[in-house]
Amino acid sequence: MSVLSVKNLTFGYEKDKPVLKNISFQIEQGKYIALIGHNGSGKSTLAKLIAGLLELQSGTIEVFGELLTDKNISVLRQKIGIVFQNPDNQFIGATVRDDIAFGLENNCVPHKEMDAIINEFAEKVNMTDFLDKEPTRLSGGQKQRVAIAGVLAMNPKIIIFDEATAMLDPKGKKEIREYILKMKKEDESLTIISITHDIEEAYNSDEVLVLNNGEIFLKGTPEEVFKDKNKLKEIDLDLPFLMKLKDKLSDCDIDVKDVKNLEELVNKLCQ
Ligand SMILES: Nc1ncnc2c1ncn2[C@@H]1O[C@H](COP(=O)(O)OP(=O)(O)OP(=O)(O)O)[C@@H](O)[C@H]1O
Ligand SMILES: [Mg+2]
Repeated sequence: MSVLSVKNLTFGYEKDKPVLKNISFQIEQGKYIALIGHNGSGKSTLAKLIAGLLELQSGTIEVFGELLTDKNISVLRQKIGIVFQNPDNQFIGATVRDDIAFGLENNCVPHKEMDAIINEFAEKVNMTDFLDKEPTRLSGGQKQRVAIAGVLAMNPKIIIFDEATAMLDPKGKKEIREYILKMKKEDESLTIISITHDIEEAYNSDEVLVLNNGEIFLKGTPEEVFKDKNKLKEIDLDLPFLMKLKDKLSDCDIDVKDVKNLEELVNKLCQ
């Protein structure tokens, strides 16, 4: 089942300067999609249109088979969670606790259930000690953790992470990533769209969407997208480590079967 269907989407912030140019694609339920592309290619703009935060200009977006319109936007918004690239744009509450509660209130969660949900998700992102702090006084990474907790607590069916862990330290990134994968395992219907510059994350996703200059440049499984090396080089996009390693091995005429130990392999590669 397709949870998201974008058709002929064109959008610009200024007249006659489209940032997205006639984009069409579909996303199937339960997939982990990596949306990649250079700075300014239109990824965040696309995310905001899908989440109903920017007004459509031309083209259509269907969420769970329903056309996104002014009338149903608030209902469809409850199914889509977005963690913004810049967490400062995400906070409304005076404290971390109020902030998470605000989202739950919007989703009509009964008051008596709120505290337990807030505590549960604060714990998942390791922010329990900060629940009574002002969100604006947190570090970038801490803000991102709170933003992630706030969105996850609302139990959305589609989650868009817009470089949502970019400010987290490597351990934090790993923890959040593992938690999201665990969530996906527990609920196979959950669809994730991860906007990322992490090519390894893209390599491990179900499907990769490459946006370039407001257009879909490539779309497919990681194998399909990354095998098109020349096409990716055309737009200077990096390749996953494993592919670079394979290339290097073949450039150096090294057959791993002939290598007796790791040291020998490293020596051969460094020659
Ligand atoms: N609020 C805005 N007003 C005017 N122009 C904007 C606005 N937001 C983005 N743009 C422009 O739209 C284009 C696409 O921006 P967008 O933020 O969607 O890119 P992105 O792919 O998310 O980039 P990044 O990887 O840097 O986050 C850019 O040229 C940007 O300057
Ligand atoms: Mg962006």
